[in-house]
Amino acid sequence: KHDDDEYTKNDDNDMLTNLPKEKGWRTEHLYQYKSFWLALGALKGIKRMQQCFKAQPTDIFLVTSPKSGTTWFKSLIYAIINRDRFDISSHPLLTKGPHDRVPFLEAIIQNEDSYNDYRTSSSPLLFATHIPYSLLPTSVISFGCKIVYVFRDTKDVLVSNWNFMTKLRPKDLPSFPIEDAFDLFCKGVSHYGPFWDHVSDYWKASLENPDRVLFLTYEDMKKNPNVCVTKLAKFLDKPFADGEEEEDQVQDIIKLCSFDNLRNLEVNQTGVQHFSSQFAVENRHFFRKGEVGDWRNHLTVEMAQQMDQITKQKLGGTGFNC
Ligand code: A3P
Repeated sequence: KHDDDEYTKNDDNDMLTNLPKEKGWRTEHLYQYKSFWLALGALKGIKRMQQCFKAQPTDIFLVTSPKSGTTWFKSLIYAIINRDRFDISSHPLLTKGPHDRVPFLEAIIQNEDSYNDYRTSSSPLLFATHIPYSLLPTSVISFGCKIVYVFRDTKDVLVSNWNFMTKLRPKDLPSFPIEDAFDLFCKGVSHYGPFWDHVSDYWKASLENPDRVLFLTYEDMKKNPNVCVTKLAKFLDKPFADGEEEEDQVQDIIKLCSFDNLRNLEVNQTGVQHFSSQFAVENRHFFRKGEVGDWRNHLTVEMAQQMDQITKQKLGGTGFNC
């Protein structure tokens, strides 16, 4: 069953027929809405969110382009902001998947009961989302909610996306070679793409409002987890004090959220995350290699050069060091 089938049974056909469409990665089509390419589920979530989501000033938003490290950063931020509530030895992340603990805004907003339950749970609330900056609910901006944005190397994002989408792609859709994914990605046609517009809007927002938008990278977190976790905690008004005990806490969080630890947990080997009534993913698919530079195993030198050139062209002028 495709998302498209499910959606077109509903009454929004008019909206769809007026939107430009392109070949999809996981579903048959992606639709262009306000210059971004979205799958139907995401489109529906964004529409719903525009109608009824109202942020609270304490809400925290983790924003990523898909496959930039959402699962990892969900775990890290969740562990940081809740560290007074949970012991590491019996931490909820040992038995629940990161996507169970931290919902995607565009998914949870489609289920009123789940949303209300989450809204009345402990505060501050952490939401993850892939929504582009220009489509964020206005209350997120007007309340000055904290936003953490995670960037990952474009080539690794493409390769991670392609691996993920081909696993989830229904078998009756035509095959989807990486060359097709590469061409679509370069044209901007990827989930929540163009990737570079997604990045540059948040990058600019982080320059304009550094207290409100923190821009981090997957690669920096890999290289310097201590520095990045400390920075994250400070930005989220949950700073670690100086001292041995706090240093141990930082180390515990880094270990808890490490790729090897999370991937090997029973819940992440066998569990399934139901994002909506139409979309479920086995947790194990969120843990593939977790490495920097895996693109080398999938892209030719020419493809990599072409992609680096686009990244330089699109992001170079923004002062972003790419
Ligand atoms: P790879 O496909 O390159 O392995 P997202 O969470 O945004 O969907 O991104 C998934 C990517 O993050 C995958 O990359 C996945 O393996 C990696 N990942 C998941 N958990 C991680 C962790 N704890 N540490 C580092 N990388 C992680």
